[in-house]
Amino acid sequence: MLRRVHPDQPESFTFTPANLEWARAQISKFPEGRQASAIIPLLWRAQEQEGWLTLPAIEHVADMLGVAHIRALEVASFYFQYQLQPVGEVTIIQICGTTTCMICGAEDLIGVCREKIAPVPHTLSADGKFSWEEVECQGACANAPMAMIGKDYYEDLTAERLAGIIDELAAGKVPAPGPQNGRFSSEAAGGPTTLTEIAGKGTGGKREDHNASVALALALGDTVKRIDGTETPLRAPWLGRGKGSQGAAGDGAPKD
Ligand code: FES
Repeated sequence: MLRRVHPDQPESFTFTPANLEWARAQISKFPEGRQASAIIPLLWRAQEQEGWLTLPAIEHVADMLGVAHIRALEVASFYFQYQLQPVGEVTIIQICGTTTCMICGAEDLIGVCREKIAPVPHTLSADGKFSWEEVECQGACANAPMAMIGKDYYEDLTAERLAGIIDELAAGKVPAPGPQNGRFSSEAAGGPTTLTEIAGKGTGGKREDHNASVALALALGDTVKRIDGTETPLRAPWLGRGKGSQGAAGDGAPKD
């Protein structure tokens, strides 16, 4: 897939004072002579500031790190996470179209994007809130098909669920990311089948007692970050529900 800088570019780019301070702190993490290693977070912060990654921003970051502009452009044009063209005011929806997602329904998800956002990728929706594109494997193949929305992965999607997510985002809501079919992560659809003895010896076979990874996540206080920056506790969807319930496809929201 060809990735090019957009023909319409702003005149210039500078970090806001707060972002400049943050960027300098990132650079200071690396030893003298290795400052170029901060390129990924700096490009990302520039994108967060502007909404998309402009050519002046790429060149500004390159200058800050003392590398040739082409080196920064190589990084920016390699990763799909960097948006080289303006995106929807709310977000861009990136549908994985690689093998696993494709055979699990990615074409249906793309159909939803064509219908609800715009017929052609990289085109803003009529209200300017959304844009979409097809991307290569995002590394969540065990939860195919999936889409990256903002910083979040929405997995185990169906066409109906993706349509619902777009509607929720348009209404100003932030659907909980992660698997949308009730799975906690990428365990077997029928529930965990390994590590079942670590946390739940002698507990009568309840899934919530047996799931060592859930117990560990809760003990660590892990959270799921949403696209508006807020965080919600990382909870197995079946916790707090009826005995043995794994939850039906729905909002996927962690339940207390
Ligand atoms: S094929 Fe879609 S995440 Fe890997």
